[in-house]
Amino acid sequence: MTLRELYRPKYHFTPQKNWTNDPNGMFYYKGEYHLFFQHNPNDKVWGPMHWGHAVSTDLVHWEELPVALEPDSLGTIFSGCAVVDWENTSGFQTGQEKVIVAVFTQHEDDNEKQSIAYSNDRGRTWVKYKGNPVVKNPGIKDFRDPKVFWYAPSERWTMVLACHDRVRFYSSPDLKSWEYLSEFGQDHGAHGGVWECPDLFRLNIEGNPGEARWVLAVSVSNGAPNGGPGVQYFIGQFDGSTFTCENYESQALWVDYGRDFYAAVTWHHDPFGMERRILLAWANNWEYANCIPASSWRGAMSVPRELSLSRTKDGNIILVQKPVDEIMNLRKKVLISGRNLLIADNKPISITDIEDAAEIILKISVDDFKTEEFGLRILDDMGNFCSMTVDMESMKLTVDRNNTGVQFHDRYPGVFHAPICLNENELKLHIFIDSSLLEIFEGDGQVSFTNQFFLKGHVSQAELFALKGQVLYKTVEIYAL
Ligand code: FRU
Repeated sequence: MTLRELYRPKYHFTPQKNWTNDPNGMFYYKGEYHLFFQHNPNDKVWGPMHWGHAVSTDLVHWEELPVALEPDSLGTIFSGCAVVDWENTSGFQTGQEKVIVAVFTQHEDDNEKQSIAYSNDRGRTWVKYKGNPVVKNPGIKDFRDPKVFWYAPSERWTMVLACHDRVRFYSSPDLKSWEYLSEFGQDHGAHGGVWECPDLFRLNIEGNPGEARWVLAVSVSNGAPNGGPGVQYFIGQFDGSTFTCENYESQALWVDYGRDFYAAVTWHHDPFGMERRILLAWANNWEYANCIPASSWRGAMSVPRELSLSRTKDGNIILVQKPVDEIMNLRKKVLISGRNLLIADNKPISITDIEDAAEIILKISVDDFKTEEFGLRILDDMGNFCSMTVDMESMKLTVDRNNTGVQFHDRYPGVFHAPICLNENELKLHIFIDSSLLEIFEGDGQVSFTNQFFLKGHVSQAELFALKGQVLYKTVEIYAL
């Protein structure tokens, strides 16, 4: 690996070699964040799925460990989760360490079923349960991606499972015997494709002490705001057996508006360990994932995001996402830090010295622009660029990847939109650039927008521009990471 491998993100997780898609089995135990990932260890395209494994103490530096789970006679290893079995409900614990139990789909043609495996050495080695599968296929073609959590009021594990066009809930005292509870979703949300990778968790509503809601996140393989795959969510109540949705049946709420954000799930949350609810997605798109330019690996994860709920002015409850604070520790040099920075037509401000990775924070008051459009270009040395443009008239944020100089699939180029979100007349954009990834958070994280971009060369500079007019930035902060 060269010092700066073209396209390989620096602070987003990528496997050292070969293919990855969904993040799997994320749990936190004794100071380590564990990340497993859908992995083909033998090729740079999707193939027989294994679980790759990596650990981190800070969510931004990852150490890859040997492959954790390999295919067997029941099938390949599809997506799933892992939990710390604090009370040894499974009876699998053999030593002093708490036992970790992974729950995952085994895939065989049209027969998907759920299996478990356990680890008594902090996730280093795994034993598959002899009684697998623990949830047999009831005759449903897409029957996968279990996410399990401990539901304290009934002292049971709860599983949410994707079943073609809906999710099903199951419950278990010991992670081995599972009982069907209920289903949700056939008549709710977006159904442009099959449902995959669900997650269910409870979050507090910011600023409303004591008020909380359950969030059900579900990936859908087609029909996202900019076409193709995306992650929708539902806000509601969960009583241990049934999920009751509070947003309109026909309404789809989207976790992210970008082209490259899928299979998002959260780290296993436990009563004694991690307090935060952290989400991670595969920052890629099935439409072209198998062809993205990369050298020794293919596929990356998003930045980890801390979640909470917020009530909008019109009373709706929405998900908000904040990149984890740990990323701020990567700031190595201030490239610009200014107030009242005026950018006029044809007088862009260039920021050189970006070696693939940067963080940019822009704040603009709605009264301070007299321009049709303004924004940011990310460039290589040859003049190829990816742009992000703010259009206050149509209230759209646009990412344009038509001029990146690299073409590998007809679903890659294009112009993509996200809504603009203003807080008290201010637009705040928190932008993360990392080789081939552009993640934008608006406001307090009410909107997020994740897209890959492939320039011909390395990212070497960025440019703040205004078209036909001028914009006055209240503050601009740019850091090399
Ligand atoms: C989502 C998905 C899952 C499945 C896995 C297979 O991206 O299709 O539903 O478990 O990928 O790799």
